[in-house]
Amino acid sequence: MTPRPPIVLDSDPGIDDALALQYLLGTGLWDLKAYTSVGGNLPAEQTYLNARALTRALRVDADVPVHRGAGRPLTRLPYTSASAFHGRAGLGNETLPDSTAAHLPESSARVLLRLSREYEGELTVCATGPLTNVAIALLEDPGFARRVRKFVFMGGAAQVPGNITPVAEFNIWADPDAAEVVLSSGIPFTMVDLDASHHFLLGPADLAVLEAAGTGTALAARLLRVYMDAYRRHGGGDACPLHDPLAVGVCADESFITAAEGAVVVEGASELTRGKTVFVPSGAHRVYYADSPTLSARLAVTGRVALGPGTRDFTRDFVATLPRWPGVG
Ligand code: BDR
Ligand code: CA
Repeated sequence: MTPRPPIVLDSDPGIDDALALQYLLGTGLWDLKAYTSVGGNLPAEQTYLNARALTRALRVDADVPVHRGAGRPLTRLPYTSASAFHGRAGLGNETLPDSTAAHLPESSARVLLRLSREYEGELTVCATGPLTNVAIALLEDPGFARRVRKFVFMGGAAQVPGNITPVAEFNIWADPDAAEVVLSSGIPFTMVDLDASHHFLLGPADLAVLEAAGTGTALAARLLRVYMDAYRRHGGGDACPLHDPLAVGVCADESFITAAEGAVVVEGASELTRGKTVFVPSGAHRVYYADSPTLSARLAVTGRVALGPGTRDFTRDFVATLPRWPGVG
């Protein structure tokens, strides 16, 4: 049997983060080396506790180490809570038991660095929260960018409106400075943004399938019901987007999205446009920026950017995959 490739999931659980973890395990494609938490949907201590509880609920607490993320964004005030979508403590109405594993002293950023050395050229990193941990790793050792095989993250809005402000997506808005560090670093990135994730919705019929699938998906179904209700309350209709699971899906198969090559520059200076991801397709618009050597150099740092859904239906894959890794309760 060929060994499964190593991956780290860096998350701020968060309901769709929790679903992303179960989906990742359900694919059976990856060797999950660490589950690194980061503040975002909730303050860092809460997302850490949620991450621990999730590894227990998904029966991997003995195998997958959980690490604590940065306590706050790189330069800004602590993370603002997204409880309106994810529930008071981030996991809907659940109070899950803590993992029995020991608390580990190594921070999320340190683990990312260590694993990038241990699995140089092989490690995939998938981030489904603010990019604080990844930025800290890069600031400590810029070589992280070339040791990582692939970096896929959920965040940004390339050609569509934002979801936290008119122009910004939540994860990038939460720590725009970190996002700019990461996207200017040369790391081989794929940005799974709202342009793609808003096309993969989970509706009542899909939820019914997961509810009927038995106790292994009961927790996921309860979380999804809360998430769907939140989207309904916020004018999102009768379905919720599968933001974070989609990023995990794209780690293995880019045909879930339609992507283009280009630079992404993050606006950080103004509060009005904070976290806006300005997408400049490779080869386009260069002439307008030619007078600025700094900007020209910045625009030469490119990655893959989702501009819409791809040929493969992610919602379908998600509903089929989740029951393959039954959780507890
Ligand atoms: C992102 O924001 C968070 O609330 C979700 O977990 C997801 O990562 C979507 O904009
Ligand atoms: Ca998230």
